[in-house]
Amino acid sequence: MNYPEPFINRLQNADNILIFTGAGISAESGIDTFRGKGGLWNKMKPEELASFDGFMKNPNLVWEWYQYRRQIVHETSPNSGHYAIAEFEKYYNSVSVVTQNVDNLHNRAGSTNVLELHGNIERNFCIDCNTFFGVEDFQSVSEAPKCPKCSGMIRPDVVWFGESLPQGVFEKAEALARESDICFIVGTSAVVYPAAYIPVTAKEFGAYIVEINVEQTEITRSVDLSLIGKAGELLPEIIKKIKEWRGS
Ligand code: OAD
Repeated sequence: MNYPEPFINRLQNADNILIFTGAGISAESGIDTFRGKGGLWNKMKPEELASFDGFMKNPNLVWEWYQYRRQIVHETSPNSGHYAIAEFEKYYNSVSVVTQNVDNLHNRAGSTNVLELHGNIERNFCIDCNTFFGVEDFQSVSEAPKCPKCSGMIRPDVVWFGESLPQGVFEKAEALARESDICFIVGTSAVVYPAAYIPVTAKEFGAYIVEINVEQTEITRSVDLSLIGKAGELLPEIIKKIKEWRGS
């Protein structure tokens, strides 16, 4: 692919890279996205499965759904898009991944600076004493478990509708956005706030914004470059170009 000159210049001279990802980066690993054709929120009700009220009304249903999603995540692997993102670290001083995904695949692919805005499905915590547990602690438990320390209810460590983001994580992501030279927006519909402010902040502070998505989104008209295609194909192509320039 021939890239426009301003993108090439930025790629060649950037120090700080920010990669903002959503469900689309994991689609090629076999994990459903939330919106659009086949999206989870077309088949499931977010207010029942991804809200605190829904959990209090039917904890077993919510627990069962998260155990099912964990199973899917366990059975899958990072794809070439996740690996390409991790590979940016070979070529730039600072590479940060700010993800809305809870699937842990960026960490598994080797990215070392991942900020998880919406939590991580591989963790649980007690809503009363706030103790955190690894997913293995309740691996084969099919009904919503109780805390072994205080008997409080255990829930997945993910952000549900109406909840705040994990403390300090958004602020850290915003600080990275302000410093970034290039911000990639990968596989997200960019409609869920406050997460979607991250690329907006990057742009306000002068970053060159590149969107990678299989289709146009709400944010496409305000980006500097829109690359239409699969993240698992386009990101490795960009890495290949960088390798050619650097001779390694
Ligand atoms: P969405 O499902 O809203 O959007 C996924 C995006 O990925 C769409 O724009 C697709 O076109 C794009 N896409 C699909 N396959 C792709 C591929 N192979 N390569 C590139 N792009 C692809 O998911 P998010 O934007 O992540 O929040 O959704 C944001 C939040 O809404 C989620 O974190 C979740 C959800 O409700 C919470 O659970 C709090």
